[in-house]
Amino acid sequence: MKNVLVVKSSILGNYSASTTLINEWIESQKNSYNITERDTSNPAIPVLDANVMGALGANEDLTTEQAAIRELSDNLITEIQQADTLLIAAPMYNFTVPTQLKNWIDLIARAGVTFKYTEQGPVGLIEGKKAVVLTTRGGMHKDQPSDIITGYLRTVLGFVGITDVEFVYAEGLAMGEDIANAQLNQARTALSLV
Ligand SMILES: Cc1cc2nc3c(=O)[nH]c(=O)nc-3n(C[C@H](O)[C@H](O)[C@H](O)COP(=O)(O)O)c2cc1C
Repeated sequence: MKNVLVVKSSILGNYSASTTLINEWIESQKNSYNITERDTSNPAIPVLDANVMGALGANEDLTTEQAAIRELSDNLITEIQQADTLLIAAPMYNFTVPTQLKNWIDLIARAGVTFKYTEQGPVGLIEGKKAVVLTTRGGMHKDQPSDIITGYLRTVLGFVGITDVEFVYAEGLAMGEDIANAQLNQARTALSLV
């Protein structure tokens, strides 16, 4: 059975469109895959600052707090390594991804662990994974300059070696019930094919 890592990042709890769609997908697929869930809000992943950056480097002289951050980062990376496919929720908040998803990205982008630099440039060290990104939005942004999320996630996932990335869009969720329902159904169908 293949392993799927689900990464949730909405802050909207039971009102979240991405969490609802992903929970439906989990319910329908739980007998077909080994599914691991990572909610980037709970437990909270620390914001990248000087202290966190110190925990993620090669330094072995860590404070107790930094050792816990290093362990969390190691666990997040292990979850990816153990997965065949990642299903990542990426709601649009103020034109970008939730802070919680950015925090997850900041803890999995580890020099010497998930990427390295060579004379030819950066090389991603995570191999053989597929990612499916479910991105929910109140407005319509796909293929517009306002869609920063698609390029950003394709770039940063590629940077750590995850280059097989598919996007599923549920857009216009604040543009009336008809559009929202049509978009949610389209996303449901796309997810069912994953
Ligand atoms: C704080 C906040 C900021 C938002 N910013 C945007 C935005 O910049 N563009 C947009 O189209 N929708 C925006 N929305 C609408 C969300 O993208 C929409 O509610 C979507 O369903 C969020 O996914 P979720 O329900 O899984 O959290 C925003 C919603 C919230 C709560």
